[in-house]
Amino acid sequence: ASDKRESLLIITNWAAKFFRESLWDTEDGQAIGLSYFRERGYRDDIIKKFELGYSPEAWAALYEEAVKGGFSEEFLDETGLIIRRDDGKRYDRFRGRVMFPIHNLTGRVLGFGGRTLKTDKKTPKYVNSPESLIYHKSDVLYGLYFAKKAITDQDNCFLVEGYADVISMHQAGVENVVASSGTSLTTGQIRLISRFTRNVTILYDGDAAGIKASLRGMDMLLEEGMNVKVLLFPDGDDPDSFAMKHGAMQFKQYIAENSKDFIFYKTDILLKDAGNDPVKRAGVIHDVVDSIALIPDDIKASVFIRECSRLLDIEERLLIAELNKQKLQAI
Ligand code: GTP
Ligand code: MN
Ligand code: MN
Ligand code: MN
Ligand code: MN
Repeated sequence: ASDKRESLLIITNWAAKFFRESLWDTEDGQAIGLSYFRERGYRDDIIKKFELGYSPEAWAALYEEAVKGGFSEEFLDETGLIIRRDDGKRYDRFRGRVMFPIHNLTGRVLGFGGRTLKTDKKTPKYVNSPESLIYHKSDVLYGLYFAKKAITDQDNCFLVEGYADVISMHQAGVENVVASSGTSLTTGQIRLISRFTRNVTILYDGDAAGIKASLRGMDMLLEEGMNVKVLLFPDGDDPDSFAMKHGAMQFKQYIAENSKDFIFYKTDILLKDAGNDPVKRAGVIHDVVDSIALIPDDIKASVFIRECSRLLDIEERLLIAELNKQKLQAI
């Protein structure tokens, strides 16, 4: 089985090289793929660092090259790079897309995200490698290979939604950043981060989906004993668009000034919704205590209970009673 894993890894890493060469060394790659990246504002050194590539707009460009290279068709199918139709015909999964290789902790390529260059609504914006022997999306964080040293040095990890966010932040000089890439955050991903730091700052997109995902991600992180801060970008912006619009200096300043501890973030967001409605305000208190109840460390939890009592202007002993009720229910 480990021989097979190794064979699949050889194929995905060969494919990364194929996509890279097609970006830099072919006419279409340069005219379509490289221009796309440059128009987004990516510098060449960053495009190279992340080993970005281009998959030609052809039915089976990679497949034909792989067969010439002598790779087994069965193994090619298993990497998900090739799709085998019911009639036995094979074609490339990624066609006419710019390619983001996904690396493991040692820098080997496990799979890919491919972004379309089309702007119509019916083409999926991103296509990702399917689950395989080597690629389990719930145990992978995009960018971790390039971020791990900075995460250790800074003792903090920024968590973003997408590939483009990771890359733009590196370009802005913020390297301690990973993306969950479209899947909602998993326990496996959190445990990967916790090998390098206990401190996570969530930087999700400033839209309704981003807010919802941030509240959910926050609870999962708290449950794993992480310290959580959150920062939302202005509506319509994500870390990538903000960094490109405002530049590295303002980006760093924005993060430094707007990161909030989870308790302030959550109470702020929920109180905005509740207004002066007393029943809704009671609901907010319950919601915030529910999050605090997830924190495994009792001392930390009690500090947050005190903060919550101050923020929501409610007696601490009531909150403690509610917290204990929650904890009993969780057993
Ligand atoms: P850009 O438009 O290139 O800046 O992408 P983005 O990262 O800002 O995309 P968005 O915020 O819409 O989505 C966040 C992440 O979710 C992406 O980076 C992808 O990993 C994933 N995602 C987005 N759209 C799709 C899709 O159509 N299919 C799949 N499978 N994943 C997607
Ligand atoms: Mn979004
Ligand atoms: Mn986005
Ligand atoms: Mn974006
Ligand atoms: Mn409750």
